Amino acid sequence: MRGIRSYVLRQGRTTPAQKRALEALFPKYGIAFSGNELDPKATFGRTAPLVLEIGSGMGESTAAIAQAHPEADFIAVEVHGPGVGSLLNRIASENISNLRVVRHDAVEVLARMIADGSLAGIHLFFPDPWPKKRHHKRRIVQPEFAELAARKLAPGGVFHAASDWPEYAEWIDQVFVANPAFEKTTKALVEKPLTKFEARGRRLGHPIRELCFLRRGSGPGAR
Ligand SMILES: C[S@@+](CC[C@H](N)C(=O)[O-])C[C@H]1O[C@@H](n2cnc3c(N)ncnc32)[C@H](O)[C@@H]1O
Repeated sequence: MRGIRSYVLRQGRTTPAQKRALEALFPKYGIAFSGNELDPKATFGRTAPLVLEIGSGMGESTAAIAQAHPEADFIAVEVHGPGVGSLLNRIASENISNLRVVRHDAVEVLARMIADGSLAGIHLFFPDPWPKKRHHKRRIVQPEFAELAARKLAPGGVFHAASDWPEYAEWIDQVFVANPAFEKTTKALVEKPLTKFEARGRRLGHPIRELCFLRRGSGPGAR
């Protein structure tokens, strides 16, 4: 979609447990990036509403959402190795059957691995705000990102974002309001638990804003 990425890979420390998880658990609970469309039925062994999370971080809230919603299947996408390792450990230790992880750029995962009109939801919780003006082009939410989200969501599907950076929240709002495929809603698919970055934002006194947009239209998948 675009050459600019929304992240810079931090080296960070990978703990021995995270490293072991990346090696031993990825084959079971991870999905390797490929240019081919994923078959959710083969992945989860059933047909259920499918939700993709972009930037799951350390994955605590991702796991909590999957456990609170056994009726849906979840794909967490994260580029940061230690975060992916932590989430894999959590999936195994808590025996979470409706959650898988992809370690790759979520924009490419959406574009290449997700069938058009197949998602019940997209979660984007506390995306990197890239506050400096010259970095705004790195923000994951851009008009073409909203186009991609509109293509991948089923009619009736929900894009759910949260940010502790008011100017970025406003930016996300404007980008999605400008896309005719979406209408604003207050109804999220899930109640967002407190995420790690949200807690950090709250500690710093940042206001938290949640935004939800409904994919307009009717057809298969519409609720
Ligand atoms: C500020 S953190 C928020 C993490 C988590 N959602 C939370 O609220 O605690 C943003 C995360 O998004 C990830 N990220 C940024 N751009 C991404 C992309 N294009 N694909 C996958 N992950 C991405 C980063 O690696 C980082 O872990």
